[in-house]
Amino acid sequence: MKKLKLGLVGCGKMMATHVSGVKLVDNVEIVAVCDILIENAKEFAEQFGGNPKIYTNYRDMVDDVDAIMIALPHDLHFECGMFFAQHNKHILMEKPLANTEEECIKLIEECEKRNLKLMCAYPVPYKPGVVKLKELIDSGEYGEIIQFSAWTEQLTGSNITFDDPLNRHWLLTNRLGGGQLFSHGCHYIDIMLWFLGEPVTGAHVGTRNGTPWMLREGTSAVVMKFENGAIGYHGATWGARGTRLGYDFQIQTEKGLLEYEFDNDEIRLYNGSGEHVPQGHNESHSYTVLWKHSLVSGEHANKQTQHEIKHFVECVLEDKEPMTSGRMALQSLRIIWALYNAEQNNTMADLRGLGFGAVKH
Ligand SMILES: NC(=O)c1ccc[n+]([C@@H]2O[C@H](COP(=O)([O-])OP(=O)(O)OC[C@H]3O[C@@H](n4cnc5c(N)ncnc54)[C@H](O)[C@@H]3O)[C@@H](O)[C@H]2O)c1
Repeated sequence: MKKLKLGLVGCGKMMATHVSGVKLVDNVEIVAVCDILIENAKEFAEQFGGNPKIYTNYRDMVDDVDAIMIALPHDLHFECGMFFAQHNKHILMEKPLANTEEECIKLIEECEKRNLKLMCAYPVPYKPGVVKLKELIDSGEYGEIIQFSAWTEQLTGSNITFDDPLNRHWLLTNRLGGGQLFSHGCHYIDIMLWFLGEPVTGAHVGTRNGTPWMLREGTSAVVMKFENGAIGYHGATWGARGTRLGYDFQIQTEKGLLEYEFDNDEIRLYNGSGEHVPQGHNESHSYTVLWKHSLVSGEHANKQTQHEIKHFVECVLEDKEPMTSGRMALQSLRIIWALYNAEQNNTMADLRGLGFGAVKH
C-alpha cells in the first residue's frame, strides 16, 4: 500500500488531537515533526516510536515530506503554507485558513497553480454523526429546514496569563485574527453553509463579558437567513463555567427536531408535540435515537480527526478535491468578515454571493 509521507508542524494542543487521529489512518506515515520548542517536537516523535525526524525550523523538513499538516498560531498559517506550496507539498491546514482574504487567495492560487491539495482541517463535516445528519436532511424525510442552531459552550483561555502585555499567549493577541467567531465559529458557519446553502443576510453580536482575557469577543451570536428561507443561528462562548448543551446542533424541520449531540455522538429525533395550548404546554420532550456512533479503541470522543485526515490522504493519493478545500474554507471566512464589518457599522450584513460556489476574485 502506498503511504503518504506526512510532516507535522506545530506540536501543541491541537496537534496532540491529530496524533490520536493519525494513528487510526492506515495509508500515512509521519516522517518528520517540527516545533520551535524542541522538547515538544521530541515528545511528538516519541509517540511514533521515535521514527520521525525532529526539526525546530520547518524549512529544513521540506525534502522529507509529500504533504504537511500545519497547526501553528493563526498568523503563521500563511507564511508556512506558502513555503510548502512553493516546494510542491500538499497541505492540511488548521482553521482558519489564514488571517486575511488576500492571504487566503494567494495560498489557494499557489496550490491550484501547482495542482496541490489544500484542505482546511475542519473535522466536523467528516464526523460520521454529522455525515449521517446531512444524509437524513438530504433524504427529504423530514421536510424543509426551518432553523439550524449550532451551540458550542466551553471555557477557553481563562487559564492563560494575560496581564503581561509583552508576553501574552498568541490566542490572547491580534495574532488570533479575530474573536471567538473567527477562531472557532468558522467551523459552524462552514457547516451551516453545507446544510443550508446560499446565505442572504445576517448579523453578528459579540461580547467580552465573562472573557476579559480575550482581545475581541469571547462570546458570539450570529443569525443568518438563507435563500431557501431557513434561519441559521450560531450561539457560542469561550466563557462557559457551566453548560447544559455543550456542543449541540438542533435542526427544526417540518417533521420534528433533529438533534446531533456531540458528547454522546448521537442523532435524536424529537417529535410528537401537539399544538401549543393557552392552558399549558403541550410539547413532547421524549425522543428517539436515530443513530449512535460506537467509538473504536483510541478514538477521541469529541474531535475524531481521523476522518478528516483519512479524507485528506485519499484526496492526495487519488487526486480528488477535498470537501473542505481552501476555496470552500474561504467562504465561511468571507461571511465572518462581512458579519464583523456589519456589526461595526451597526447594519445587517449583505451575504449574497459569498456562499458556496461563489468565489469571485
Ligand atoms: N480544529 C479544531 O477543533 C482546533 C482546536 C484547537 C486549535 N485548533 C487550531 O490549531 C492551531 C494551533 O492551535 P493550538 O491550540 O494547538 O496552539 P498551541 O499554542 O497549543 O500550539 C502551537 C504550537 O506551535 C508551535 N510554534 C509556534 N511557532 C512556531 C514556528 N514558527 N515553527 C514551529 N512551531 C511553532 C508552538 O511552540 C506550539 O507548540 C490553530 O490554528 C488553532 O486554531 C483547531
